[in-house]
Amino acid sequence: MTKKIAVFAGDGIGPEVMDEALRVLLRVNDKYSLGMEIEKGLVGGCAYDQHGTPLPESSLKLAKSADAVMLGAVGGLKWDTLDYSLRPERALLGLRGELDLYANLRPAKVHPALADASTLKREVVDGVDIMVVRELVGGMYFGKPKGVEKLPDGTERGFNTEVYTTPEIERIAKVAFEVARKRGKKLCSVDKANVLESSGLWRRVVIEVAKAYPDVALSHMYVDNCAMQLIRWPNQFDVIVTNNMFGDILSDEASMLTGSIGMLPSASLSGKKGMYEPIHGSAPDIAGQGKANPIATILSVAMMLDYTFDASSAAKEIENAVTKALDGGYRTADIYSDGMKKVSTKEMGDVILKAIA
Ligand code: IPM
Ligand code: MG
Repeated sequence: MTKKIAVFAGDGIGPEVMDEALRVLLRVNDKYSLGMEIEKGLVGGCAYDQHGTPLPESSLKLAKSADAVMLGAVGGLKWDTLDYSLRPERALLGLRGELDLYANLRPAKVHPALADASTLKREVVDGVDIMVVRELVGGMYFGKPKGVEKLPDGTERGFNTEVYTTPEIERIAKVAFEVARKRGKKLCSVDKANVLESSGLWRRVVIEVAKAYPDVALSHMYVDNCAMQLIRWPNQFDVIVTNNMFGDILSDEASMLTGSIGMLPSASLSGKKGMYEPIHGSAPDIAGQGKANPIATILSVAMMLDYTFDASSAAKEIENAVTKALDGGYRTADIYSDGMKKVSTKEMGDVILKAIA
């Protein structure tokens, strides 16, 4: 049976990092006879330029018909003045919403060879292995009402709505407990239940769901405290589950523990179907210069093989190849330090490919 993968490289450094990820994907596809087929499409600013919309109907159709979606990055200065409904970022939210990709898994794992690349001390980040489970299709980013309205006195009023229902919280909590069960069996639910009603409900529902997972130790933390604890003592965390907005912010913060946001992959899931992308953005400032780190996108391929296609040996081989490249001293600019071998995007791809026998 062939497996169809929709590929959207997007904007900025998206196409460069995707090129390397696809080379890796094609290599393991051959090696493990995975039967994958790739179909490319446009989303983001590049789609807006050609079709006047960041998420053309044809791209959405392609994404819906595929078993999995690979995405590079979207956005750039050029499109920042467009109405929100036309911005490249809307394509991401549109894909997430349309495919109901409610569970976003963002692992932040410190590679031993890179512990000194973090801005935090080695003794703080050594051994860090955190999975942030972010709710991805609810909360403030999708809540209604939203908008900006003119007031009689000539000023304006902008508003968004933080909203969660019981079933929405239940399903993301279940994913988080399942993930925790397969890891260190510790789950920290992050909210702002001391101030927000929606967070109060979040906490109550998570406690209810926990009854089916007596083997997982559940704790709760306010988001402000969590932001502080992540850099004070990150090793206390195993799995974090939180809402859309807090997850957006905390996952960027967690990424810096690993040395660079260029290292972190992600999976956005609805059951087996998933969209896989690096957590970094399109980095227009370095686009087209061969400086981008392709590792986050390459590791996203590994996540895809693992979560959508149950091809865990192929996934493991990619992860090992990345480790080998880092242990060999190869570094893109974002993770470079004295004495290491500085490589371009493509050279990093070459080194990783070579490690996949
Ligand atoms: C992310 C990004 C997106 C988000 C943006 C680009 C819409 O920051 O995936 O974390 O806010 O979810
Ligand atoms: Mg973000």
